[in-house]
Amino acid sequence: MKKHVLLLLVLVLSAAVHAQVSIIPQPASMEIGTGHFTLNRSTVIVLDHPSLRKQADFLKSYLGKIYQLNLAVKNRGAAPARNLIVLRNNGKHNEVKGAYQLKSSANTITISGDDAEGVFYGVQSLIQLLPVSVSASLQVPQLSIADAPRFAYRGMMLDVGRHFFPVEFVKQYIDFLALHKINTFHWHLTEDQGWRIEIKKYPLLTTKGACRNGTILGHHPGKGNDNTHSCGFYTQAQVKEVVKYAADRFITVIPEIEMPGHSSAAIAAYPKLSCFPDEATQPAKNVVDWAGPRTGKQVQQAWGVYSDVFCPSEYTFTFLQDVLDEVMQLFPSKYIHIGGDECPKEAWKRSAFCQQLIKEKGLKDEHGLQSYFIGRIEKYLNSKGHDIIGWDEILEGGLAPNATVMSWRGEKGGIEAAKQKHKVIMTPTTYVYFDYAQKKNEDSLVIGGFLPLDKVYSYNPLPAELTPEEQKYIIGAQANVWTEYMASPSKVEYMVFPRMTALSEVLWSPQELRNWDDFKKRLSTQFGRYDLWKVSYDRSALTPDK
Ligand code: ACM
Repeated sequence: MKKHVLLLLVLVLSAAVHAQVSIIPQPASMEIGTGHFTLNRSTVIVLDHPSLRKQADFLKSYLGKIYQLNLAVKNRGAAPARNLIVLRNNGKHNEVKGAYQLKSSANTITISGDDAEGVFYGVQSLIQLLPVSVSASLQVPQLSIADAPRFAYRGMMLDVGRHFFPVEFVKQYIDFLALHKINTFHWHLTEDQGWRIEIKKYPLLTTKGACRNGTILGHHPGKGNDNTHSCGFYTQAQVKEVVKYAADRFITVIPEIEMPGHSSAAIAAYPKLSCFPDEATQPAKNVVDWAGPRTGKQVQQAWGVYSDVFCPSEYTFTFLQDVLDEVMQLFPSKYIHIGGDECPKEAWKRSAFCQQLIKEKGLKDEHGLQSYFIGRIEKYLNSKGHDIIGWDEILEGGLAPNATVMSWRGEKGGIEAAKQKHKVIMTPTTYVYFDYAQKKNEDSLVIGGFLPLDKVYSYNPLPAELTPEEQKYIIGAQANVWTEYMASPSKVEYMVFPRMTALSEVLWSPQELRNWDDFKKRLSTQFGRYDLWKVSYDRSALTPDK
């Protein structure tokens, strides 16, 4: 009998301990002990080196904001002997940055990063060891973690063209990425419906191109128009602020300046960028209602793909190089994304200038012209020390020599690019388009499609048909958040949570540790964290009648 009681006690205790260890993404290895470290207002964050301040500040700020605990941060030597969280950088140079070890004992939690990134990710795991109920005394289970990321590129995109989001939300989005150990923020800054970045040499891009006279109501092509003039762009000072905010969280911001398609807003500002500057902008087919003037070049008010695209003229190349000069000043990222997707070729087909250029350059057709366009921009960016990323359409007509491909129309483009020994980031619609519906009975307006959480979770970015040697070109994956049907921050949150959480495990954890049932258990704790963050999220994955 006594034995049974003891066994029961052990089971209850270990269940209690295990219930608290709910880290997403799942660490590569973890040994759970017994007992706790108690984090309270006397706990001190100790820096083994003053350079670890950023990592400490993130933890301090999270504890302050979520738990109202204001911890002291001290350098080694000035710290007491117990109740410490020690941050240490072991200064290793691994191929993929971000490995760390975390040990918690009764007196001390030690986070040792192999590098600065690793210390930051150790802090994220510690945050996830904290209870999801707020109290002044937080129990952290004693354990030992050794962890490292699977992929070097772990990304999330945000489209701020279709709907503009204020800097405060962009920063919050970056925090969400950081909390998921995601290291790249792809900022989709230019679109048919709005140009969102200040370019000092071309002020009309933001005085005209960042505004539209109205927006369709309902599903494309719309049931009407809201007839509301709306504008939004980021000043260069704000861009710098966002880039720094991200860098403090070990996140690289990759700007996307779309070309040659999706360029209606730039053309509305500078009509000569079009091969037909005197032609009025054509709204999308079947758009029932248009706000404001219908003459001249206009920023688009509905979604879709438009045929008035950048003309491959010297005027356009000068413009783009000038724009990119300012962009390169603002973004330290090695990569600049130049778009390249969904560029209809009608305008180039009927332009005498383009046809002449095709002949002159000995190009095969308009796809060859697109390849020439991207190749020229790549050459320019390469000459300034940057590499390009483009959507998989940049494969058509021949890939620019150093380009990295974002494979979005399935994985075919990525597979082809990897075989051609080009780097690839997988972003297939089938697994990581977070604008798709996440449940069958979705009652909010979404673009369509169906991408439930378990499908995201099931993704393996390394296609089986590639050899191990070819798979090395797949540097990671990213989810895309196109915002045609996300007009507010809370709608973005609802569309990304919990799918971003599933993606983080796809990107970080060893494939052999992936386990949907176990993930779902941990997700119920994660829902508690979403509540602490006060974000919107979809609960359907954990409700039995899904
Ligand atoms: C895309 O979804 N057009 C890249």
